[in-house]
Amino acid sequence: MTVFKIDGYVIVSADGMLADTSHVMPETLKFEGDKQFFTAALDSAELIVHGRHSEEGQPNSPHRKRIILTRKVAGTAHDPSNPKATLWNPAGASFEAACDHAGIHSGTIAIIGGPNVFDMFLDRYDTFWLSEAPKVRLPGGEPVFLGVPRLTPRQILAQHGLKPGESQILDETNGVTVTPWRRAEGPQSLANFGIGALDVVGRLDGLGHSAAPRDHE
Ligand SMILES: NC(=O)c1ccc[n+]([C@@H]2O[C@H](COP(=O)([O-])OP(=O)(O)OC[C@H]3O[C@@H](n4cnc5c(N)ncnc54)[C@H](OP(=O)(O)O)[C@@H]3O)[C@@H](O)[C@H]2O)c1
Repeated sequence: MTVFKIDGYVIVSADGMLADTSHVMPETLKFEGDKQFFTAALDSAELIVHGRHSEEGQPNSPHRKRIILTRKVAGTAHDPSNPKATLWNPAGASFEAACDHAGIHSGTIAIIGGPNVFDMFLDRYDTFWLSEAPKVRLPGGEPVFLGVPRLTPRQILAQHGLKPGESQILDETNGVTVTPWRRAEGPQSLANFGIGALDVVGRLDGLGHSAAPRDHE
């Protein structure tokens, strides 16, 4: 039985952007405290999932197993440039098939962007770690979710059944915080245990989630 814990990690500007108008994460959105938080989180994850332009680029990156989304393959394939990477096209294979290809059948999976990828898992996150930089604005930039800026990132997380926990300060001077948005117990949270609604009745005996945060580049 696959037992995945799916956590998301992003840092956004006050207007909900993860990158600027040229689709690049600007230096103004990089803070040491957030970087340490994000780095520790990726060090404790079994698998990292991201789009082709969102690899974290950290010293430990070559040692981490990852799934890279691309339309350049039909379903799943080995990445010829990285033995620890699986290439995945969701149009041609399921997420479970991609995890199988990566050799991962349980543990924490870190979803680290871009917007399309963050959206894809909105109904599967156990915890979404939302770092916010209130003094940074990136008008016309790239939103964290496709529904931003019509809605705020917090509104979208709430719409998908996630509730905010206690915020942590990552950078006092710049007011940067991280807030865990956790999924309340329910059918969806059991789905990540590979249990369908049909099984719920027989297994409602204390399946649950534990928080394991840390950080962001
Ligand atoms: N602030 C933060 O915390 C944060 C977090 C993440 C990213 N970022 C930044 O945001 C920018 C994101 O770049 P981006 O918009 O280009 O996003 P991206 O998701 O990293 O890359 C887009 C590419 O990923 C593949 N892809 C994405 N969704 C797919 C899907 N549903 N099916 C198949 N392939 C898919 C496609 O690759 P192919 O072209 O190969 O088909 C697509 O061209 C980067 O500059 C990154 O540094 C910032």
